Amino acid sequence: MRVLSGIQPTGRFHWGNYFGAIRQYIDLQNEDESYYFIANLHSLTTIDDKQKLADLTMDAALDLLALGLDPTKAILFNQSDVPEVSELCWLLMTQTPMGLLERCVSYKDKIAKGISSNAGLFTYPVLMSADILAYDSNVVPVGQDQVQHIEVCRDIARSFNHKYGEVFVLPEPKVLESAAKVPGTDGEKMSKSYDNTIEIFEEPGKLKKKVMRISTDSRPMEDAKEPDTDPIYQLFSLFAADEQREQMATLYRTGGFGYGEVKKQLLEVASDYFADARQRRTELAADMEYVRDILAAGAAKARKKSGEVLLRAQEACGVK
Ligand code: ADP
Ligand code: TRP
Repeated sequence: MRVLSGIQPTGRFHWGNYFGAIRQYIDLQNEDESYYFIANLHSLTTIDDKQKLADLTMDAALDLLALGLDPTKAILFNQSDVPEVSELCWLLMTQTPMGLLERCVSYKDKIAKGISSNAGLFTYPVLMSADILAYDSNVVPVGQDQVQHIEVCRDIARSFNHKYGEVFVLPEPKVLESAAKVPGTDGEKMSKSYDNTIEIFEEPGKLKKKVMRISTDSRPMEDAKEPDTDPIYQLFSLFAADEQREQMATLYRTGGFGYGEVKKQLLEVASDYFADARQRRTELAADMEYVRDILAAGAAKARKKSGEVLLRAQEACGVK
């Protein structure tokens, strides 16, 4: 089985990205074959600052490696280092009905948010389809918001296969368990777009400030509180061991505590949780040559596989 997923480098990764996606990618690297890439071509649809995109792309690689993505198990690369995907994208584009893209919710959402429309933004799901089909991927772990794009990919692959023969493998989405959304500092879903994120490798002083600023209700200290609906408890339980979690839940249900105290404990468990990864990240950042080598080796493997699939598609439709 081949697993593939991509993650956009549109900002530094936050706790929501970790628990909602990255941690699960890392668990899946023990599958038969796994491909993970940094979707910098997709980010070009929304970022137009050259240095920012380049920096965020390398930060993404550093973060993923520091968090445990193992290049001896998974193939890690930058999307733009595999030109075969962009070539395949064109072949797919010619088979994509406009209506299929017009129905995509994520495009409509971005436009509604005021992101200016461009053809790249509109055809985003076709590039995503090429990313997936280029490696004969069987399983694509994604957040719920990306499932529609996998459906688009399957539609395009099906219609290509119908016209030209069995060229593409149809992928299945694997919806990541982010049903319990990681809350942000304002209690809403943590997201770059809401400016409520806590980054995984936040500078310690800033981390403390952000944790201390997490919004709380204004009920008196002595009141008993329901832990499961409280964002601080929800965050705490992501990091804490079972015993710590139970103790904290009991504290909430008993009442008579201050949020300041609970936030301090959250800061502590979260700092401990990422301490080793933080150390690894510092070491990796001091050896960027090594990181670049990993990406280059990953891209070479990715090009080999995608080159075969591209040729199959080109021959099937009469351009080779
Ligand atoms: P953002 O909302 O910050 O722009 P992305 O849309 O780039 O994040 O998300 C990348 C991945 O991280 C997706 O798989 C998404 O489902 C997951 N993710 C992002 N935020 C959260 C969250 N608050 N809780 C759970 N998963 C999340
Ligand atoms: N669109 C995905 C996101 O924003 C990132 C992505 C690009 C992707 N290409 C992909 C995910 C291919 C899975 C497979 O989260």
